[in-house]
Amino acid sequence: MGLNINKIKEKRERIDLLDKNILIIKDIIYEYSGIFISENQYYFLYTKIQKRLEKVEIKSISEYLKYLKKSNNEIKKLLNEITINESYFFREFNQLKVFGEECLIEVAKNKTDKKIKILSAGCSIGAEPYSIAIIAEEMLGNDNFDFEIIAIDIDEEILKFARKGIYDKNRINQIPKLYLEKYFLKYNEKYIINDFIKEKVKFKRINLVNDRELRSLGKNFDFIFCKNVLIYFNSFSRRKVIENFYKMMNENAYIFLGSSESLNRITEAFYIKKIENQIVYQKKRGENYEDINY
Ligand SMILES: C[S@@+](CC[C@H](N)C(=O)[O-])C[C@H]1O[C@@H](n2cnc3c(N)ncnc32)[C@H](O)[C@@H]1O
Repeated sequence: MGLNINKIKEKRERIDLLDKNILIIKDIIYEYSGIFISENQYYFLYTKIQKRLEKVEIKSISEYLKYLKKSNNEIKKLLNEITINESYFFREFNQLKVFGEECLIEVAKNKTDKKIKILSAGCSIGAEPYSIAIIAEEMLGNDNFDFEIIAIDIDEEILKFARKGIYDKNRINQIPKLYLEKYFLKYNEKYIINDFIKEKVKFKRINLVNDRELRSLGKNFDFIFCKNVLIYFNSFSRRKVIENFYKMMNENAYIFLGSSESLNRITEAFYIKKIENQIVYQKKRGENYEDINY
């Protein structure tokens, strides 16, 4: 064990000494995506850059840096390597339960237009937006409510996968059997999401830290899920994203974050509510963001 740690340390030191270009690439990634790569992740970054070097047949990192600066698409390809796409259906089940049984019902009650608009930000393989769609259909399907889920991610490759809606067994373990039978078709050991749910989710490639791209999604969101994404950003990017969310949300709309994330020290523009042991954030009413923010 000790030996391995020393080896990793040695490798990191060698990378630092040999190639300062990695630090420049790290800054380019941050500027573009908000993803903050800390010192103990430099080796991870190095291995991902090496992968791209092989793909584009470039020999040195300095040459690669020139290529990265010149090409419009390379930053997206590098990001496809770097993003962590870990996700599965019905992740944090108790939180989804609170969403469906409490928050969704409350918001729906006050809706005269019978339309609910939901954002899944950092949707990865699609498991999150499809899980939300299943719950919304279960809760509101009989009441002729129309719901729309916009699912966004920066990683184009993962969005291609998400649009297909075909999953291995390991991604669907947490889906209640009833929903698995109702909303999926089993074919050759794969699980295919049904067309009804698929049509409820619109996938788009959007970079969360690009104000123009994010705001192009419009306003009137009733719910925003942004789970296990902000952890990769620093506090500046987190604040920027949350401010945009605030401006895109209806009054009384909710934000759901991952269990290790919080809006503490980001903004005071949301009420923090604890419902059945789950923390949810509700937009404060009739206020100007600038007045209630730090
Ligand atoms: C760990 S996954 C979380 C997936 C899902 N929300 C969940 O909790 O299961 C994080 C996702 O955020 C995406 N992401 C990272 N930076 C992003 C950015 N700047 N804009 C949009 N998506 C981003 C990644 O591509 C990745 O798919």
